[in-house]
Amino acid sequence: MTVHFIGAGPGAPDLLTLRARDLIARCPVCLYAGSLVPPQVLAHCPPQARVIDTAPLSLEQILDEIRAAHARGQDVARLHSGDLSVWSALAEQLRALRAEGIPYTITPGVPSFAAAAAALGCELTLPGGSQTVVLTRAHGRATPVPERERLEVLAATGATLAIHLSVHVLEQVVQTLLPHYGADCPAAVVWRASWPDERIVRAPLGELVQAAQGGLERTALILVGRNLAQDGFGRSRLYAPDYERRYRRAASGEGST
Ligand SMILES: C[S@@+](CC[C@H](N)C(=O)[O-])C[C@H]1O[C@@H](n2cnc3c(N)ncnc32)[C@H](O)[C@@H]1O
Repeated sequence: MTVHFIGAGPGAPDLLTLRARDLIARCPVCLYAGSLVPPQVLAHCPPQARVIDTAPLSLEQILDEIRAAHARGQDVARLHSGDLSVWSALAEQLRALRAEGIPYTITPGVPSFAAAAAALGCELTLPGGSQTVVLTRAHGRATPVPERERLEVLAATGATLAIHLSVHVLEQVVQTLLPHYGADCPAAVVWRASWPDERIVRAPLGELVQAAQGGLERTALILVGRNLAQDGFGRSRLYAPDYERRYRRAASGEGST
């Protein structure tokens, strides 16, 4: 018996990996994390599968489900939205399974920041621009952010910011960032990236709050940074004709990319 932790992607059912689909299809138990996992993904479960929404459950209740599946010798597909490496509550589940000697695997998924960048049609790192993407969140009631990682500290780097779990405090986020990025800095809010009801608001940082009005849905990412501009950046050295690299001799035009 194995628990398969699976990143279910940002929402679009066809952004599930093939490995994820195949694992879901052969697990008689599926535990999924609430409304961020679409029904079409759950449709891959076998017909008689025990399918449980874990949103209303405590960690202890989730572990009880896993223990019961373990006792029955049944594999479990454990689905979380996006990728498992950020804000998934993966670590506490792994710790418990390790303590009880229950085997597990981990299958990565498409993270929401990548889906939001795709929705915006932008690359978050650019030649001549910021080379760093910060995945972060505003200070929360349930989850405090360490002092040295507060938004104002991260903002001092000028890196591209992908701010999760924070659209409900958008005004506060913008006020914190304005002194560092400036009112004309490109910014966006992407709600439910890759879902049928995806919504995108792009605006200069100074106008973002007004532009985003009416966005009540909390599943959203705030993206801020000069790299969100659609022009005004350099070109990559990697694809420059005079740049020599392993698969292509300089100016020869040969080789594969
Ligand atoms: C609990 S975290 C899960 C993050 C997830 N593990 C990931 O890889 O993106 C939930 C937050 O992720 C962001 N998020 C998740 N799915 C999203 C989507 N489809 N569009 C925009 N933001 C999303 C939102 O900021 C949301 O508040």
